[in-house]
Amino acid sequence: MENVAAVILAAGKGTRMKSGVVKVLHPVAGRPMLSWSVDAARAAGSAATVLVVGHQADAVRGLYTGAADIRCALQEEQLGTGHAVACARELLAGFGGTVLVLCGDTPLLRAETLQGLVAFHREQGAALTVLTATMGNPHGYGRVVRDAAGRVQRIVEQKDATPQEQALCEINSGIYCMEAGFLFANIDAVGNQNAQQEFYLTDLVSIAVKRGLTCLGRCTDDADEIMGVNDRVQLAEASRILRGRINRELMCAGVSLVDPGQSYIDHGVRIGPDTVVHPNCSISGATVIGSGCTIEGGVSITGCSIGDNCHIKAGSVLEGAQLHAEVSVGPMAHLRPGTVLNDHVKIGNFVETKKIVMGEGSKASHLTYLGDAEIGSNVNIGCGTITCNYDGVSKHRTLIGDDVFIGSDVQLVAPVSVGRNSLVAAGTTVTVDVPPDSLAISRVPQVNKVGWRLKKK
Ligand code: UD1
Ligand code: CA
Repeated sequence: MENVAAVILAAGKGTRMKSGVVKVLHPVAGRPMLSWSVDAARAAGSAATVLVVGHQADAVRGLYTGAADIRCALQEEQLGTGHAVACARELLAGFGGTVLVLCGDTPLLRAETLQGLVAFHREQGAALTVLTATMGNPHGYGRVVRDAAGRVQRIVEQKDATPQEQALCEINSGIYCMEAGFLFANIDAVGNQNAQQEFYLTDLVSIAVKRGLTCLGRCTDDADEIMGVNDRVQLAEASRILRGRINRELMCAGVSLVDPGQSYIDHGVRIGPDTVVHPNCSISGATVIGSGCTIEGGVSITGCSIGDNCHIKAGSVLEGAQLHAEVSVGPMAHLRPGTVLNDHVKIGNFVETKKIVMGEGSKASHLTYLGDAEIGSNVNIGCGTITCNYDGVSKHRTLIGDDVFIGSDVQLVAPVSVGRNSLVAAGTTVTVDVPPDSLAISRVPQVNKVGWRLKKK
């Protein structure tokens, strides 16, 4: 769509969220609520989008610093939706095309619906087209009042509506398409003589009608899409619907979700075909998962890249980790940021890693902490091994060469290195570098005092 701009209203506080965070910044399926509206406007062709900001303006602006197509207009006092749109006028001065007016709290709105709205508005040569919906329970919304011939006459707010008007089921979605010339020439004519003493944007409808301009209502068949999020109940509902869309898209692309109702996969996550995701997994951030992987139940993955044919077992937590192909992790492992696992690495249960690189085919199968370490390929890390990377002041590195065998219950006191093909005996505390091809052993010789227990009794 050419010659489209957008104004997105996002100055309100969102009182009913009962939150210290302004409503439009609450995350929905992994991103701030407002970004869903911004992306819908962009996808509908908006080359210049103005965000009307007010409450926590700096935080809202901060979402789009550096975005050339997004500018912010400050509405210092929230005097109503009409006043909010008027605040965008300066930033759209000289723009003569079609303006989409959206709210920052309708994350379910689809770009296709906006494209359809703009196309319809232009075909009909309208000055203003409002997106409407028919609702079984229209309470709280503005109602669309039509004349006997079905022509839109005006919009009346719940608080201003007569009982007859309250019985109308066609509601105003708060989403509009307007010609910029009409909008900015008439926005000052909007008054605040109403129950809430606010400047209602909806008054532009009756203004257009009075001027004899074409003013239309386009009814959407999916009332879900225009659902506004006002409280936490609606937030959860909107998240559920958006996750449903994300899940459906993944399944259509060949990903198996064992129970899609219990798959919490955020916007922006990519997963390859033939990967199976079991219930109760959260996958978020810019995570990329290859094909043929198995993600067992209760796994949490944030900002990771995972290669093909990996197996992440139940209860594991992965954050900022990079896994190559055929890697096996868990159950109940914790991979922390900076973990890099090459092909065929195996991380077993109750293993924690942080800032480590592990070479091809290396294993740490049980009960281990590996931090700030560089581990070669074909290394075996025995059960209970700990890199003592922190001396209370600084972190230090441990280097382990290829083909090393670390026995069980070894402490590696960093900075320290173990040369390639060496063996560190079980129970050893490594405090000095081990040369290649060596055996390192540090144990207090065992003494057996025969009969000692009997004498004690
Ligand atoms: C509005 C419509 C109503 C419609 C409903 C759809 C008006 C007068 N009413 O009512 O017909 O059915 O949306 O959800 O427009 N905002 C500002 N500055 C302001 C006031 C509001 O930026 O001064 C923003 C809010 O942050 C919000 C949006 O505009 O994102 C809508 O405002 P809200 O007060 O929620 O309007 P409703 O009462 O829901
Ligand atoms: Ca609202």
